[in-house]
Amino acid sequence: MDIHRQLEKTIAKFHGREDAILYAACFDANAGVFEVLTTKDDAIISDELNHASIIDGIRLSKARRALYKHLDLGDLEGKLKETQDCRRRMIVTDGVFSMDGDVAPLKEIISLADRYNAIVFMDECHSTGFLGATGRGTEEMLGISPRVEIINSTLGKALGGAMGGYTTGPREVIELLRQRSRPYLFSNSLAPSIVGSSLKVFEMLMSDSSFTKNLQKNVSHFRNEMIKAGFKVLGNPKHPICPVLLEDAKLASQFADEMLKEGIYVIGFSYPVVPKGKARIRVQISASHSLDQINTCINAFKTIGRQLRVIN
Ligand SMILES: Cc1ncc(COP(=O)(O)O)c(C=O)c1O
Repeated sequence: MDIHRQLEKTIAKFHGREDAILYAACFDANAGVFEVLTTKDDAIISDELNHASIIDGIRLSKARRALYKHLDLGDLEGKLKETQDCRRRMIVTDGVFSMDGDVAPLKEIISLADRYNAIVFMDECHSTGFLGATGRGTEEMLGISPRVEIINSTLGKALGGAMGGYTTGPREVIELLRQRSRPYLFSNSLAPSIVGSSLKVFEMLMSDSSFTKNLQKNVSHFRNEMIKAGFKVLGNPKHPICPVLLEDAKLASQFADEMLKEGIYVIGFSYPVVPKGKARIRVQISASHSLDQINTCINAFKTIGRQLRVIN
């Protein structure tokens, strides 16, 4: 429908790109991009901790595959050297990684891409709408003007919590995806009600930066107070994914259950979603939380933390 096209154009404008294509979910966008843009003569070089949907998407491509160690630029450069004989190399990274809330070293990745004539693909599901002063994502937070060739992201997280995904980038790439990307061709498009609400979200984001300001205030307050109380909070200090490290899997699940009794809904994550011995409670801070709500959550963490002897 017309509104689908309107949303695609709005997404492209938001990201400062030429065009965009909508999918039913970002899982589909990731499943549909690599097979179309690469052949057996190419190589895809991917961070080992990229999201499952990227891994599945890469499996569908006939390109040579190489994994580099998480955020390890030396290893990435090694893989770029090893694949010099390939026609085209694509570096694939999440902008922000979902379990730790850590951010890709994008400036350095881009300079490697320039040096080795590679293109960069970035998944911005955990950045779009809230990272950077106006929510444009990882590039904006790191002070990089739009540069990454292909961005995939979701409408189902910061942008309203409904569903939907997209690819945005050069016009020719988007046109090719429209002709060849299987999850786009062989699946329903987004329901019009979701397209309508997503258009509204972008309109709000593009006219008002108070969301990102509130979020930053809330994130800093939560992280600072939790660290002061003696908890170990992982990830980038500016990111609203705040993983509270507890290490032990049973403890993480018990802690989350006790938090729920206090009226706080947080999720415990343990192996195999995160490495063994790295169990944590992942707290997600929102722009719409009030300071009172954040303090209630911090106080519940302190009470249960003392009960379970995580802090003194
Ligand atoms: C990094 C990343 N990419 C892709 C997806 C898939 O997004 P969607 O829920 O829109 O399919 C997720 C969702 O968890 C994600 O975290």
